[in-house]
Amino acid sequence: MLEKYHLLRRSFTEKPPSALKGEGPYLYLDNGQKVIDSSGGAAVLSIGHGNKEVAQAMADQASKICYVTPSNFTSEPAEELASLIITEEYEKMGYSKVMFVNSGSEANENAYKLVRQYFYEKGETQRTQWVGRDIAYHGNTILCLTMSGTAHRKAPFEDVLPYGNFHKVSTPHPAHLKLKNETDEEYSDRLLKQLDDKFQALGPETIMAVWFEPILGTSGGCDVPPKGYLKGVRSLCNKYGAMLVYDEVICGSGRSGSTFFAWQQLIDEGDTYADIQPDIITIGKALCGGYAPLSAVIMHEKFTQNFISTGKTFTSGHTFQSHIVSCAAAIVVQKYIRTNNLLENVTKQGKLLKSKLQEAIGDYKNVLDIRGLGLFYTIELVKDKNTMELYPMDYNFSSLAYNCILKYGVSVYPGRGSIDGKKGYGFLVAPPFNVNEKIIMEIVQGIKLGLKDAMEIAEKDLA
Ligand SMILES: Cc1ncc(COP(=O)(O)O)c(C=O)c1O
Repeated sequence: MLEKYHLLRRSFTEKPPSALKGEGPYLYLDNGQKVIDSSGGAAVLSIGHGNKEVAQAMADQASKICYVTPSNFTSEPAEELASLIITEEYEKMGYSKVMFVNSGSEANENAYKLVRQYFYEKGETQRTQWVGRDIAYHGNTILCLTMSGTAHRKAPFEDVLPYGNFHKVSTPHPAHLKLKNETDEEYSDRLLKQLDDKFQALGPETIMAVWFEPILGTSGGCDVPPKGYLKGVRSLCNKYGAMLVYDEVICGSGRSGSTFFAWQQLIDEGDTYADIQPDIITIGKALCGGYAPLSAVIMHEKFTQNFISTGKTFTSGHTFQSHIVSCAAAIVVQKYIRTNNLLENVTKQGKLLKSKLQEAIGDYKNVLDIRGLGLFYTIELVKDKNTMELYPMDYNFSSLAYNCILKYGVSVYPGRGSIDGKKGYGFLVAPPFNVNEKIIMEIVQGIKLGLKDAMEIAEKDLA
């Protein structure tokens, strides 16, 4: 007999433990367990739970004004947060406006509309084609699922997704798709040739945007693009007049290292930011660190100029756009990150996390790869890395690993499709930016013990 409850998460039958209290990276559950949320769900926590200043700012804001409609009013928190994001450095790079919405999916939807309307107002109405990549995740709405490559999230909807104007090329995924004896540069060239071929096949004048996660998120697992790739894509977009959009919903806002944007961490020696910088960046998750739903579309001045010169407004708007309490919370989160130099800590603790994980589980026969940047790592799992035997598709090893690791007080973020968007298991580790060595060691220990248990259970189950 099921306990009666009405909330639908995903499962219609299972009810996980309730989280009662949070403190830094720790959660206290109603079953008495204290766990480290080592991934903050999918990389959401940036300063951990329980920051009193953020809570106070939210309470102060809500008691002053809880909501204003963005179509009639602006607000100090929204204006201040936009200016906090467009620092002098980013202004010099040409970024000029920020739109705040509530989820990564909404940010990508709005970025899509922005690019399309830009070309529409410019009279380049033939630019209707969108090019993304086959291993990708851009969100949960129908349009974002169409952009994505996560087969397991799309199966029931596949036949109704509006693929007409959406096209894909291969995702850089060196752990699986780089050929033996191929250099990074050769691999990039091969991918860029494929992209150029796609432009030619569709007609370069019809492409509105090339769109991808500069560091791959949960769909493939924290892959960093090979040398020359970003520069090559930027140069193709310049050549054909298409917009370049980076989805940094998961990897951005400081998650990947010492800069606010992840793409800044990916610059090759001798190149400049201008060689790889996108026209639009979408961010979310760590921006407000989980205190309130908030995401953003950050756009280049060329959009502003186009709308000003044509006298048009952006045909888009949401009831909860620029939400005043979310913006008030994010201001404090972002100031806290800056005042405490937390992005430097991301780089420092990230290196420690990677090396300790390598030491603890690198030799496990089911750990194929530990990859990522900053505090953003995927541990990719196969049945036996020596033979490259995989766990069967119907044996959800990620979920088993999650449950076993949780027993040791560490919550990770299980994922699937790490090999080609369909096959392959793994999990994400992405702790808050203010973790210290002690917490890193607790995370590593829980993963080490839990993964060993999971491996043993799987050996028996699959014998
Ligand atoms: C790269 C990327 N884009 C978009 C999204 C969608 O964000 P949300 O779940 O907030 O809609 C995600 C979520 O994981 C993501 O990782």
